Amino acid sequence: MTELLKPDALALEKAARIIKGGGVVAFPTETVYGLGADAGNPEAIKRIFAAKGRPQDNPLIVHISSLDQLPKVIQGELPPQAKALAERFWPGPLTMILPKGDAISSECTAGLDSVGVRFPMNECAQMLISASGVPIAAPSANISGRPSPTSAQHVLSDMNGKIPLILDGGACSVGLESTVVDVRTLPVRVLRPGGVTPEMIADVLGEVEVDGSVLRPLKQGEIARSPGMKYKHYAPKGSLTIVSGPSEAVAAKICALYDSAPASKRILALDGHVRLYGDRLVYPLGADADTAAQRLFAALRDMDEQGVQTIFSEAVDTSGIGLAVMNRLGRAAAFNIIEV
Ligand code: TXA
Ligand code: MG
Repeated sequence: MTELLKPDALALEKAARIIKGGGVVAFPTETVYGLGADAGNPEAIKRIFAAKGRPQDNPLIVHISSLDQLPKVIQGELPPQAKALAERFWPGPLTMILPKGDAISSECTAGLDSVGVRFPMNECAQMLISASGVPIAAPSANISGRPSPTSAQHVLSDMNGKIPLILDGGACSVGLESTVVDVRTLPVRVLRPGGVTPEMIADVLGEVEVDGSVLRPLKQGEIARSPGMKYKHYAPKGSLTIVSGPSEAVAAKICALYDSAPASKRILALDGHVRLYGDRLVYPLGADADTAAQRLFAALRDMDEQGVQTIFSEAVDTSGIGLAVMNRLGRAAAFNIIEV
């Protein structure tokens, strides 16, 4: 049985006790829910991999609630570029890849000599880390290959019976996982886009690289700089096709595809375009890329539950957080994108 509790003082104390004892707890962050355990305890880390069914070579990121914890987590000082990003974006949805410190178990980093570090903004996450007294390793709290959970209900549907406790902090405000940036070299390189956008990073450092695999599949033989990029992700049960181009042309193409598809189909579109689809079944993604980010994973889960077989989605503009939306949407569709 998995308990679901609002994160009051008692629940947080209980959660912290579980973490200290080597157990696993799901907790909210501003990005998605995480599945947390003591980053220095190899047995605890193994429980995370088991609960998720996660491939053994995919490292976990480590969460801190104070910069004072950094010496335990990383090797040496923060390089100046990392310091500048930490000052601007921590706490927040930014994960920095840095040399791994000795207190982090090698199970956590899947044997790598680097570690992803994040200081989340969410208050419940911060209180849990502080109360546990240890850095917390936490991947997204979904079964591997499913959309990341943006509500406690999503976590429950993947983790029921596998973990003792879920802290229910409501819906996640960003809705997509953190931006992962390798800050060990210059220019820094975005491996996974998220709420901290390349534009925001360039504003601090003057320069930023975005890994080529963000908007296309890995090429044959290409080495994944972030092991997570190798794996199929966020795949809905139905088939997903993305159509990209000017809005009117996109809508015309989607309408044609929709009309010739068998029953049980849905269109993902921004609110401003819904009228272009007449009386066809549309799942609205909100007014802009920010709301699309918040809703995308819930939309994919809802459509699975409703047994939707065929999904057509509009592409969104890749500026700002739109890059992260298109990265997740693209991967969910195995980059099945039609240009019109
Ligand atoms: O927003 C988030 O980052 C959420 C919340 C819970 O904080 N966590 C999350 O973790 O998304 P996860 O494990 O689902 O994704 C972490 C990604 C994976 O793609 C992994 O391969 C990559 O970060 N990663 C972790 N450590 C790495 C490292 N040392 N080098 C390169 N990539 C790394
Ligand atoms: Mg994940």
